[in-house]
Amino acid sequence: MIEVKGLSKFYGQTKAVDDVDLSIRKGELFGLLGPNGSGKTTMIKMLTGQIKPTSGTLKVHGINVLEDPLRVRELVGVIPEQETPPSFLTAEEYLHFVAKIRKMEHYEEVCNKWFEFFDFTDQKNSLCKDLSRGTRQKLMFAQAFLHEPELAIIDEPLINLDPVMQKKVKDFLRSYVNKGGTIFISTHILEIAKEICTSIGIIYRGKLVYTGRLDDPKLQGRNFEGFFLDLVSSRKGVSDDILEKPLKVISAPA
Ligand SMILES: Nc1ncnc2c1ncn2[C@@H]1O[C@H](COP(=O)(O)OP(=O)(O)OP(=O)(O)O)[C@@H](O)[C@H]1O
Ligand SMILES: [Mg+2]
Repeated sequence: MIEVKGLSKFYGQTKAVDDVDLSIRKGELFGLLGPNGSGKTTMIKMLTGQIKPTSGTLKVHGINVLEDPLRVRELVGVIPEQETPPSFLTAEEYLHFVAKIRKMEHYEEVCNKWFEFFDFTDQKNSLCKDLSRGTRQKLMFAQAFLHEPELAIIDEPLINLDPVMQKKVKDFLRSYVNKGGTIFISTHILEIAKEICTSIGIIYRGKLVYTGRLDDPKLQGRNFEGFFLDLVSSRKGVSDDILEKPLKVISAPA
């Protein structure tokens, strides 16, 4: 589903993604993990044809993204980072709009199912600008899966969702791959990856420092957080001064 070779994206001196090779098969729920600024969103933008790489090759769905980014976007469900639906449309108008772009027929019922799934049928006629952040994220989620894509690429899927909705989304993602779909998510929340992913990649300063299945014997019996921190820690030997220092109580001026 995804085949990446020697992929790099440099912004001036910043190596946002640096010589990454990655291959993801159908039926995987792949989690790209990494600390803030490590290159996750840059990877996703390249995979979805939003930005051009500095070098390297990438195929999504067997299509060369550089040659035919529109075809890739047609096939793949995408939730870009921090994206919100257009403020001037109602929630329902937005889903119908996406359904038309996706060339779907009889989409009203499908859209209604998504409103029910996310429990906001009562707000489907509200303008997107008046929805809460979490509800807008639910709408973004619904638009990505509306046409049941074989591959969905999601930047931080659970951001802004409450625990009940997080559980729903996690269950949905798991069942989607069990039914043959493929999902690529980025996250810096290790617990999510541990709970739902079948395979992971860890990116640090643009370099893919680990890829493997979650049932990899290397990970068994190990503390996942410790494993991650060992790979991405740049601060070995530096004491966590700020954590250890007692607080100085500064009295307010009289
Ligand atoms: N348009 C840009 N121009 C210059 N530098 C950029 C640009 N986009 C990203 N970068 C830099 O590339 C690096 C990787 O950024 P990216 O957004 O891919 O990280 P991330 O892993 O998604 O982080 P986060 O977890 O905070 O979302 C960072 O150093 C960032 O500042
Ligand atoms: Mg990001």
